[in-house]
Amino acid sequence: MTDSRSKSAPSGDFIISFEDSADRVPVLFIHGFPLNNTLWDFQVSGLADVARLITPDLRGHGLTEPTDVTPYSMELLATDCINLLDFLGYEDPVVVAGLSMGGYVAFEICRRFPERVSGLILASTKAGPDTAEGKAAREESAQVALNEGVAPIATGMLPKMLAPQTYENKPDLVEFLEDMMNGTSPEGMAGALRAMADRPDSTPDLAGLMVPTLVVHGEDDQLIPVAEAKAMAEAIPDAELAVIPEAGHLPNLEQPAVFNEVVREFLESFYEV
Ligand code: MLT
Repeated sequence: MTDSRSKSAPSGDFIISFEDSADRVPVLFIHGFPLNNTLWDFQVSGLADVARLITPDLRGHGLTEPTDVTPYSMELLATDCINLLDFLGYEDPVVVAGLSMGGYVAFEICRRFPERVSGLILASTKAGPDTAEGKAAREESAQVALNEGVAPIATGMLPKMLAPQTYENKPDLVEFLEDMMNGTSPEGMAGALRAMADRPDSTPDLAGLMVPTLVVHGEDDQLIPVAEAKAMAEAIPDAELAVIPEAGHLPNLEQPAVFNEVVREFLESFYEV
């Protein structure tokens, strides 16, 4: 089976047709808090024909060990991602896709390494910083994680991570998510909380983001209201907005087929340039 991306090459006296996944659009998928790269399992399986997916586990999350470097910061997490791209040999820019905290890391990559970014996917995220109360609550949670373990934080967050109907109707997904959250190390959780608390306001940067951008958000997101996504899409010059019905904070897990379709269409535009 061939498609418009199939290639052909001379081979002796005939033309050989082939596909080479190296020509897929490289996309760095950065997970949210307190998750890991299995967040993107449905994208790895559903988008491999259009994207080369690079899915790190951030420090202290998933299979990446926590480090002694404190405090974690968006600068540190963004640099970790760029170091990974360097290790993989990417010289050309890639599409950077971040979900929630991953979006905060994506903003930092845009600030510090704009030459590495060919496009942006901002999922379930927002540009503004924490309020003073928000910062204090993060520090409280960091102390809980370090002193009592990650379970109380995971348990408290779990129902808010998903749309109420997902939480009600998809017990397997709830369990998968709970395991993912509980797999985060206390140090990684505390580090990420403090990095989020200290993150700068990205709102002033939005008008200067000159790459094609997809803003994608669950209609029923209980953690970051959809109004935040609308505001970002209005402020970024070349942005499109997709609001996914019947999805909460994790639309890529809750409505993977719809999410993948939206991302696929966005990525296909990269083949046309
Ligand atoms: C996330 O999903 O990454 C976090 O909920 C983001 C945040 O707490 O600001």
